[in-house]
Amino acid sequence: MSDIQRNILITGGAGFIGSHLVRRFVKRYPHYIINNLDNLTYAGNLENLRDIETASNYRFIKGDITDAAFINQLFEKHRFDAVIHLAAESHVDRSIVSPMDFIFTNIVGTVNLLNAAKTLWQPGKTEHATSEINHLFYQVSTDEVYGSLDHGGYFTETTPYDPRSPYSASKASADHLVRAYGHTYGLPVVVSNCSNNYGAYQFPEKLIPLAINNIRSNKAVPIYGKGENIRDWLWVEDHVAAIDLVFHNGKRGDTYNIGGFNERTNIDLIMQLCSIMDEKLGRPAGSSAKLLTYVKDRAGHDLRYAIDSSRITNELGWKPSLTFEEGLAKTVDWYLANEEWLQHVTSGDYQHYYEQQYHKR
Ligand code: NAD
Ligand code: DAU
Repeated sequence: MSDIQRNILITGGAGFIGSHLVRRFVKRYPHYIINNLDNLTYAGNLENLRDIETASNYRFIKGDITDAAFINQLFEKHRFDAVIHLAAESHVDRSIVSPMDFIFTNIVGTVNLLNAAKTLWQPGKTEHATSEINHLFYQVSTDEVYGSLDHGGYFTETTPYDPRSPYSASKASADHLVRAYGHTYGLPVVVSNCSNNYGAYQFPEKLIPLAINNIRSNKAVPIYGKGENIRDWLWVEDHVAAIDLVFHNGKRGDTYNIGGFNERTNIDLIMQLCSIMDEKLGRPAGSSAKLLTYVKDRAGHDLRYAIDSSRITNELGWKPSLTFEEGLAKTVDWYLANEEWLQHVTSGDYQHYYEQQYHKR
């Protein structure tokens, strides 16, 4: 493990994946300063980071990546030597309703960060003794940029981009810009593309936490179309372990696919979840499945995603630590044990946490 001091900007650290990444880095690398920049949109929740918010190597910065002047000042002030960029609008259904939010945050926001990093990391501009070799702009991206598969084959790092929703098109644009800044300006960049994450602290608009929450409250669980679409699932902590590896050992300028070879049709996944929920809630077998409700399909619904993650396994030695069955059971346990978190998220109370905790200091 490296003991070099670093001053790292993680964007979107109050979101689902970002909060797991911030926690991992704060705990694992006490000699790093971890700056969490997040605008606290509906998806940002500082309650996700309660356990580490007073750590001496952690700093929360509330701010918007679409505000170029603010971003430039922030880089000038804190002189970050690396960026791990996760801040984004992340929900496909919302991108179908309001594409512009995705264009601003995911594309313009990314370019603002690239410009600020490019300016700060010009040769000779930074004072940090070790930073020139450590500069890195790490773009955390998605497998959705590769498009949709039929029933055969996998996405590899060389699969051409073919995004098909406003969300995936905005992420694809951002990835292209990151690589373009690497190619044109020599900015040290790396990109990883990951499959569907699940686990603790995921906002209950995404399939798994939505279904857990609805089953828990005896509400209908909406299944889009026939439930035959296939997603490839990865436990979030395995994703952040992969990000950690790529950040420290990945080859600059390269791309790494991250996924757990865990394909499930939505209906198979939900049926599996229903039986776990029946068991954990002590309900008769088959009760949760009665809540499934087939609804109108998502517009442009991609049929199948499947990631070939052999490169990161072969080159960096990463592999998932949990099977899908283990991860799903652990996730259900977490949601059932954290009713207060879920209650704050569903009532909107979590949006007051920043004022309550940070303005009293
Ligand atoms: P999320 O929606 O849970 O979190 C996004 C975070 O970004 C939130 O905390 C939000 O407040 C913040 N944010 C949004 N707009 C901002 C802005 N303008 N300025 C500053 N902060 C802003 O998302 P997530 O699921 O944790 O995904 C994180 C990243 O990982 C995204 O870039 C996403 O594309 C990518 N990704 C997600 C998955 C997945 O399955 N969830 C899979 C692969 C890649
Ligand atoms: O593949 C990675 C992507 O996974 C990430 O880049 C995105 O940020 C993340 O949101 C996720 O996108 P999906 O659209 O695949 O996730 P979602 O949980 O919204 O949906 C998963 C599948 O379940 C999808 O086929 C749509 C379906 N679905 C979803 C919801 C919310 C339903 O059938 N019913 C639902 O209510």
